[in-house]
Amino acid sequence: MMSLSGHSVYPHDVLTVLFCLLTLSQAYVNVALNKLAYRSSSYSTTDTSGTGNALRMSGGDVLNGGQCAVSESGETAYWRVNLITIHSIHHITIHFRADNVTWGPSNNVTGLFLGFSVYISNTTDRLQGTLCYKDDNFTIDTIPAVFTTTCPVHGQYVIYYNERLPGVSYPGGYSVYVTNVLCEVEVYGCTATGYFGSNCSVPCSDVNCQYCHIETGTCQGCKTGYKGHRCEMACEGGTYGAGCKETCGHCRDVNQCSINNGICLTGCNAGFKGDLCKTVCDRGSYGYDCNEICGHCRDVNQCSIITGTCFTGCDTGYQGDLCKESCDSGSYGYDCNETCGQCRDVNKCSIINGTCLTGCDADYQGNLCKTLCPSETKKE
Ligand SMILES: *[C@@H]1O[C@H](CO)[C@@H](O)[C@H](O)[C@H]1NC(C)=O
Ligand SMILES: *[C@@H]1O[C@H](CO)[C@@H](O)[C@H](O)[C@H]1NC(C)=O
Ligand SMILES: *[C@@H]1O[C@H](CO)[C@@H](O)[C@H](O)[C@H]1NC(C)=O
Ligand SMILES: *[C@@H]1O[C@H](CO)[C@@H](O)[C@H](O)[C@H]1NC(C)=O
Ligand SMILES: *[C@@H]1O[C@H](CO)[C@@H](O)[C@H](O)[C@H]1NC(C)=O
Ligand SMILES: *[C@@H]1O[C@H](CO)[C@@H](O)[C@H](O)[C@H]1NC(C)=O
Ligand SMILES: *[C@@H]1O[C@H](CO)[C@@H](O)[C@H](O)[C@H]1NC(C)=O
Repeated sequence: MMSLSGHSVYPHDVLTVLFCLLTLSQAYVNVALNKLAYRSSSYSTTDTSGTGNALRMSGGDVLNGGQCAVSESGETAYWRVNLITIHSIHHITIHFRADNVTWGPSNNVTGLFLGFSVYISNTTDRLQGTLCYKDDNFTIDTIPAVFTTTCPVHGQYVIYYNERLPGVSYPGGYSVYVTNVLCEVEVYGCTATGYFGSNCSVPCSDVNCQYCHIETGTCQGCKTGYKGHRCEMACEGGTYGAGCKETCGHCRDVNQCSINNGICLTGCNAGFKGDLCKTVCDRGSYGYDCNEICGHCRDVNQCSIITGTCFTGCDTGYQGDLCKESCDSGSYGYDCNETCGQCRDVNKCSIINGTCLTGCDADYQGNLCKTLCPSETKKE
């Protein structure tokens, strides 16, 4: 926690509430320091804009070595700072660029900023975020050089936006174009979520609250795995994640699905695999976590991923629901439905095709030894 302002904090009884708030708010950290800023405009005179270039810029540092020269202007102006993660923001201070001349109506850059707006968003799209401020009242006489808006909202991006659209008539004093070159933008808030108060030191009053109002502590968003107005309920019934909006996979035990990330802590039900148990077993495997190998199914695609049952029967030489048992001695073929012939050794009858591998008994011939020898040529 640091105080950027250099002002001391005087939490003294006799101070008025207003003065307290004003002073205490100085204690929020400028969370935009050393964060990436990005700017673009629809019309540009430099090569750093409009191309998606991310400028390494401290949100709280002065651009262009302190000169803040106008380098970019156009019909729209967009500037944002990425705070990298969602932060609890309290207020935003903008120091408008003054081109080394005194700020005010005589400075013909002032009109570039009239009509500006400030957003906090979780995406780079301002329209998906919260509008903190839209200027519809300032004139070149009243717009301040340093502007602060209080916006107690959680978000990842702070966006400055302005526009001069064709066909729209703007009030007097508005420039023809707008610029996104701002001197300095400071975003004050807390660096860690889950805390509130001017020092960002008070844990949110609800234990499982991740995002609480920076001033009041009222919960506005739960930690992943929790829900309810006060985040008092853990995800249940096979749900997990932010707002319990995700559905657990085929966990062996649905109560052992991590409410945080959905990992099935005791493995998968039959037919599924992967940490989340959302992946169906590969062909030829089945069972818990797909740990079993299918038997000799006639068609491996017809092996149940749950039980391993071969739906269309066994390959030649195998029997049983799982087709893992060889044919009994003396039988062969699909489902072991065929009976061996008169093999010399019944254990040497091929379970695949019934061939008697060590020849036939007396009086029989052929591969299968199912043909009687002609009586005059009987073997002994
Ligand atoms: C702006 O003012 C600073 C300090 O007075 C000076 O060093 C700099 O050259 C000035 N820049 C311009 C563009 O006049
Ligand atoms: C205003 O703009 C004009 C034309 O760009 C420029 O010559 C002049 O120096 C600027 N500043 C003031 C204070 O008029
Ligand atoms: C950003 O996301 C957080 C967490 O989901 C949410 O509480 C907050 O309201 C969002 N901010 C905006 C500006 O939508
Ligand atoms: C508009 O600006 C005037 C002069 O700066 C100020 O007194 C007034 O409060 C403003 N009105 C609104 C709605 O901001
Ligand atoms: C903030 O910190 C100051 C100085 O450490 C302390 O005096 C004050 O009570 C704290 N305020 C809150 C709201 O925690
Ligand atoms: C095997 O025999 C059973 C019972 O006679 C029969 O239902 C099945 O269709 C036969 N299978 C084959 C492949 O001939
Ligand atoms: C029958 O199967 C055996 C293996 O069990 C094999 O060696 C033999 O070549 C097969 N015979 C025919 C005619 O396919």
